Amino acid sequence: MKLLVLPLFFLLVSTTASASRSSFLNPIHLLRQEYSSSEDHNNVANTTLDCVSWRLAVETNNIRNWEVIPDECQTYIGHYMLGHQYPSDCEYVAGLAYDYAKGVELVGDGKDAWVLDLDDTALSNAPYYYVDNSYWAKDYNKTEFVEWELKGEAPAVPGILDLYNKLLELEFKIVFITGKDETTLRNITEYNLKNVGYHNWEKLLLRDSTEASLTKLEYKSKKRALVVADGYRIWGNMGDQWSDLLGENPGNRTFKVPMPMFYLK
Ligand SMILES: *[C@@H]1O[C@H](CO)[C@@H](O)[C@H](O)[C@H]1NC(C)=O
Ligand SMILES: *[C@@H]1O[C@H](CO)[C@@H](O)[C@H](O)[C@H]1NC(C)=O
Ligand SMILES: *[C@@H]1O[C@H](CO)[C@@H](O)[C@H](O)[C@H]1NC(C)=O
Ligand SMILES: *[C@@H]1O[C@H](CO)[C@@H](O)[C@H](O)[C@H]1NC(C)=O
Repeated sequence: MKLLVLPLFFLLVSTTASASRSSFLNPIHLLRQEYSSSEDHNNVANTTLDCVSWRLAVETNNIRNWEVIPDECQTYIGHYMLGHQYPSDCEYVAGLAYDYAKGVELVGDGKDAWVLDLDDTALSNAPYYYVDNSYWAKDYNKTEFVEWELKGEAPAVPGILDLYNKLLELEFKIVFITGKDETTLRNITEYNLKNVGYHNWEKLLLRDSTEASLTKLEYKSKKRALVVADGYRIWGNMGDQWSDLLGENPGNRTFKVPMPMFYLK
């Protein structure tokens, strides 16, 4: 697994919270590229990289296997995550998924499945990367990340818990597939899910020791193959990484949840 994030510096954080999202992160109201000089600012074509274009290219998988947020886009991505745009983008994807889900003619034999990734799809790790209420300054560190996971304090990703509840109403069977470790993280993951409001699922599949060497893409395909072999139809599949959505048995529709902070193979 490859997960690399560069620090993002000194973000201005407003204390005025939007009511519906106040439990997520502190909203800021700034979403623009930081230019290194006012001269640059007046001459956009002369900046080395347009960060809005970079983010779009990342989300569409046009840039692949990237390892770090480019220097000139770190502040921009920090603003994106902390401001209203990330929650808004997540909620928009959730709405599109619901529009599709409503139109699916379920067979109704208990095998109509909807696959959800956990990390940064159902549960957000954004607080792990968000430090001291003022800046985003955390490199990925496996030890510290596991400590964060073991707290079981990840909030729901904006829009996704609401979608999950609507999918249950439509009588989809929820199948969570996560790369989290089966032995050490199942219990706390179940606790975390229930604590934020994900109470029911058909399956919660975690990575066991025999799967440790698989890439994320191979691992997710393997787990989906087991689900299909068990007779389920995967109508919808949502993840924040392309490795959640490509490979075998991707499902009839896939939905990409935004995530411009890292790329997992
Ligand atoms: C871009 O701006 C830099 C300084 O900000 C300047 O040195 C360079 O000549 C400019 N390049 C173009 C193509 O205008
Ligand atoms: C990762 O975090 C642990 C625990 O805080 C620390 O001991 C270790 O030095 C860190 N590793 C790196 C590469 O920063
Ligand atoms: C599982 O987590 C619960 C809290 O959610 C705790 O009470 C229990 O002891 C844990 N069990 C194991 C085996 O770790
Ligand atoms: C859903 O996907 C399966 C597997 O690819 C396919 O057999 C089936 O025809 C698809 N159903 C619809 C309604 O598109």
